[in-house]
Amino acid sequence: MSNYYIYGSELNDPIIRELVKNAPDVEINTESPDWKEEVASVKYPDYLHPTEPEDEGKYNAFTNPDGAKNDKGHLGDKTFKNLFAKKSPKFSTFDLSPNLGTEIDGIQLSELDDAGKNDLALFIETRGLVVFRNQDLRDKSPQFSSDFGKYFGPLHVHPISLSPKGHPELLVTYRKAGDSSRYAKAFAGTHNLGAWHSDISFEEYPASFSFFVALEAPPSGGDTVFLDTREAYRRLSPPLQKFFESLTVIHSNYYQNLRGLLKNKVPKVKADYFTEHPLVRTHPVTGEKALFYSRAFVQRIKGVKPHESAAILNLLNEHVLNNPEFQVRATHRGTDSRTVIAWDNRLTLHTATTDFLQHETGPRHHYRITVLGEKPYLEQEDEAKNGQSNGHSNGHANGLSNGSSK
Ligand SMILES: [Fe+2]
Repeated sequence: MSNYYIYGSELNDPIIRELVKNAPDVEINTESPDWKEEVASVKYPDYLHPTEPEDEGKYNAFTNPDGAKNDKGHLGDKTFKNLFAKKSPKFSTFDLSPNLGTEIDGIQLSELDDAGKNDLALFIETRGLVVFRNQDLRDKSPQFSSDFGKYFGPLHVHPISLSPKGHPELLVTYRKAGDSSRYAKAFAGTHNLGAWHSDISFEEYPASFSFFVALEAPPSGGDTVFLDTREAYRRLSPPLQKFFESLTVIHSNYYQNLRGLLKNKVPKVKADYFTEHPLVRTHPVTGEKALFYSRAFVQRIKGVKPHESAAILNLLNEHVLNNPEFQVRATHRGTDSRTVIAWDNRLTLHTATTDFLQHETGPRHHYRITVLGEKPYLEQEDEAKNGQSNGHSNGHANGLSNGSSK
């Protein structure tokens, strides 16, 4: 009988629950007496605000029923002329790989007009992720970031993350500054703190775009690693592609919430979701198919026997996560690089890395703007031929993939 490790499922064991509850907290502990000192020590203290107890259970899951039709990428220009209209003299780009990821310097996201933002949507949907340097978003108000994100769709409120005061729609991630003593604490019970995922895939309407803004970052390391789920789909043999297209997967935030509960985090959204999504999904703008295997939230395959589910998920693990040919690293390159990474969760997975913990560094402190996308769907072949379903535009799939981007 095959087994599949469900992320967080060790918390079913009461002994491990106690260990987690009492473990030294290397990320955040807003109850600690040192917390005020911690907040005073960071460059952007407004972005370290714990959820207020009165916010408990206050926000509900959001929906985006017309997400596929309303995706701004439909309005993007294939030459991306509006995105690059105001490029500075020091403008430069570099493709992290021919298929996935582009680094750009010399465009200011905060200055894009609507046409520029439409091109940006299409550019992210084409390249999968974009690393922008020298951005000023973090020095605008949280409201500015929120309005920037809302142009692309409704914003998500994360169940248990930190946020700036009054802006639950901005998710804050934080790892403390410190020295090598962080290393032993962080890896006391595990060899790997990474967890591949597509943001909030447990939602009925999971994320389309994420914008990840660096407030402070170690000079080296703490990268976000990405993989291309379109390419993971393309590398499969046709019979397996067909088989995977027939499968439905259950995604859940159950263990994420349980861990939050053990750590006394105040839940803004008090709900465990068990959400069904197709394993293969169609992109509403490019029409490309991708494997929607959001590792950290995937619990099981629907409608098959447990050992069959485990065997299939273990095969996906091996195929999707273990191939460096699908992967690129997005670097943050220290606080002064003022990096913003934007990605499309519908065609990538990502994971943070914590390779800086054995060195003396400042904190790793970011905030994320998370845009809700459409309810994932797989377009049937006859619909694709007619090009009429969900408003996806003809011609994008062939014209724009694989590096014909600028
Ligand atoms: Fe993420």
